[in-house]
Amino acid sequence: MTKKITIEKIEELAKRRGFFWQSSEIYGGFSGFYDYGHLGFLLKNKFENAWRNFFLSLDDMFYEIFPTNIMPEQVFQASGHLKSFQDPLCKCKKCGNIERADHLVEEQLKESFEGMSPKDLTELIIKHDIRCPKCGGKLSEVGELNMMFPLDIGADSESRAYLRPETAQGAYINFKRMFEILRKKIPLGLAIIGKAYRNEVSPRQLLIRTREFSQAELQIFFDPDKINEHPKWDEVKDYKLRLTTTKDRKNIIEISCEDANKKLSLPKFYIYYMAKVQQFYLNVMQIPKEIFRFKELSEEEKAFYNKYHWDIELDLASLGGFKEVAGIHYRTDHDLSGHQKISRESMSISIDGKKIIPHVIELSFGIDRNLYALLEMAYSEERDQTILKFPRSLSPVDVVVLPLVKKDGMPKKAREVQDMLKQDFVVFYDESGSIGRRYAREDERGTAFAVTVDSQTMQDDTVTLRDRDTTVQIRVAIKDLIETINKLMRYEIDFEKAGKVVYEP
Ligand code: ATP
Ligand code: GLY
Repeated sequence: MTKKITIEKIEELAKRRGFFWQSSEIYGGFSGFYDYGHLGFLLKNKFENAWRNFFLSLDDMFYEIFPTNIMPEQVFQASGHLKSFQDPLCKCKKCGNIERADHLVEEQLKESFEGMSPKDLTELIIKHDIRCPKCGGKLSEVGELNMMFPLDIGADSESRAYLRPETAQGAYINFKRMFEILRKKIPLGLAIIGKAYRNEVSPRQLLIRTREFSQAELQIFFDPDKINEHPKWDEVKDYKLRLTTTKDRKNIIEISCEDANKKLSLPKFYIYYMAKVQQFYLNVMQIPKEIFRFKELSEEEKAFYNKYHWDIELDLASLGGFKEVAGIHYRTDHDLSGHQKISRESMSISIDGKKIIPHVIELSFGIDRNLYALLEMAYSEERDQTILKFPRSLSPVDVVVLPLVKKDGMPKKAREVQDMLKQDFVVFYDESGSIGRRYAREDERGTAFAVTVDSQTMQDDTVTLRDRDTTVQIRVAIKDLIETINKLMRYEIDFEKAGKVVYEP
């Protein structure tokens, strides 16, 4: 990558243009919490819709539901989060600073220690004389903190509840009802897009590690006897996955789904969704293949509920290497069996003449981390300014409509064009400043196209359509604009062939 992208540059642009900034800024900022401005919110909507369109259309039996963010203690007793959702931490004996122990050791020794026990982390800290990064003081023994936010519900604190640390539990506790409503068929997919909350010890790197974030998760309930089959296996069997295994963390290999099934002993039902997740990243988010990989997690690194656990990582230059943005988890019947035990409601179903508790494969995406990745991918310094070259359909704003000058009926005509386009696209209008400045402003916001109403428009009802990435302009009849922009959004035609080229840089 040639461009020099830094976290500071992303933060500066995000704040100045209205993507995101630290929450409660006027009170000095609230660590681990971020507010989204208008462009951040539009970008988030675009990502969520692209995710929905892609994953929910994989199967007629995949649906989205919308459960609550607050759930009673029993839910997390059943899921194991009360007991096992802990982060290791240590405290400076001199200044009282608290740090996440595994991250601190990782930073010092340049190796991953995720999942290591507090005892082993303590030993490493002593052995390598790792000190407080703030004051150089000695560190305490490593302890553990449960990452969930507890809440006391009701005026008399009648019951204990928690803000959900993952959206997933909402799908498990509603599985039985949804199964009955949806005519008792599996595989059944329940997707949830919404907030999750974790009391992170050291929130950092802007949207990457926050205490309140959004997830898009899909829980796929299936028959474990059918784990080594998928009705659409033939569509993916030759598709090559990019991955790194626990045996060889240094290299990324490309391996067909068929070979992953044979050589990595991964089941077909799991691999099919790996292929779909990779296609989402490469085709929809248009992430360059070289920076994408699946990473196999070791026994110690896996989440406590997973049998198979591969993370999706992107090599993000501003963060100095690969970062987890999503995960694909085989959670077995861990959660449904846990809920059956604690709620005493049966989670078993009758299917194909047998009684089973379905197993679950979960696709878990952190929305904010993916938005950060999109921003980094889009960030470009050209033409003496910053340009956000988002994939067209993920641009926060699709089209800006600009009257060339504020007279001769152009603003009125431009408003008419805006009203027409508003039915299909996210449209902004701008009439202030020179046309060059207005184009530059939109390029920095990442607006995909600019439509300009000029004197010719007043005569022949055509406008110029400008492409953000190349600045090329074509002339298009107003009546054809919606269809042309739609085709361009889907990259069905080349920009230069969508109308008469009237400007080339
Ligand atoms: P990490 O190892 O970075 O702490 P994790 O393994 O705990 O992440 P998961 O529990 O697998 O993450 O959560 C699923 C997804 O939710 C992650 O892939 C990530 O995209 C997102 N996510 C998790 N924790 C955070 C956080 N604190 N802030 C923002 N996104 C998060
Ligand atoms: N639902 C998976 C996770 O948040 O880790």
